[in-house]
Amino acid sequence: MNVAIDGPAGAGKSTVARKVAEQLGYVYIDTGAMYRAVTLAANRAGVDPDEPDRLGTLISGLDIRLEPGVNGQTVLLNGENVTEEIRSRDVTLRVSKVASHEAVRAKLVDLQRKLASAKGVVMDGRDIGSNVLPDAELKVFLTASVQTRALRRFQELTEDQKVPLAQLEQEIADRDRSDEQRVHAPLVRAKDAVVVDSTDLTVDQVVEVIIDLSRTKTAEA
Ligand code: DC
Repeated sequence: MNVAIDGPAGAGKSTVARKVAEQLGYVYIDTGAMYRAVTLAANRAGVDPDEPDRLGTLISGLDIRLEPGVNGQTVLLNGENVTEEIRSRDVTLRVSKVASHEAVRAKLVDLQRKLASAKGVVMDGRDIGSNVLPDAELKVFLTASVQTRALRRFQELTEDQKVPLAQLEQEIADRDRSDEQRVHAPLVRAKDAVVVDSTDLTVDQVVEVIIDLSRTKTAEA
């Protein structure tokens, strides 16, 4: 079985997906990390997200790998461990723009499908159920209110990273809009996805809901 978990920024997808994978004994694949790695490479090379041609050239020379490990997933960009660096604000503020380009998506979607071909993956992103793995046996659309998502991000920031909560709310709303409105594979709920609203649920409660759904799917198969 493959499990697709999609939803907007800050809905708790990665934390939940990692735990679901752990409980099912599956491999967790964080596709957002791949878009972040491309964005980091673009930032370093001075390539603007508004230059599709230069982005296309840049991505053709990139080797992006995800390696599952005991402390979570390691992200390798041309062999360099960039797991921490891809979470920087510089990357976060530009990633949605970079992810809107067809050349970027084509390469990463291809890679994602290869990773899922052996089955037994929990993959999180924005277009997994609707585009990357349309045949995934279980599709979840995980959401929460903008206020809740901003507050969760705020609580994750360290003292030297702190920005006002209202600013985070604005950035999250902007990123939602940009992810929803892009032409290529926008954030959209697949018709057969189950909506799980995590606004009033703890991480463990959300994990339990998804594990129950996966049991039902397995029993139906
Ligand atoms: O989940 P995240 O915040 O790490 O994702 C970073 C960005 O990448 C986000 O703006 C949307 C984009 N993304 C995407 O377009 N498609 C995916 N499958 C995963 C992420």
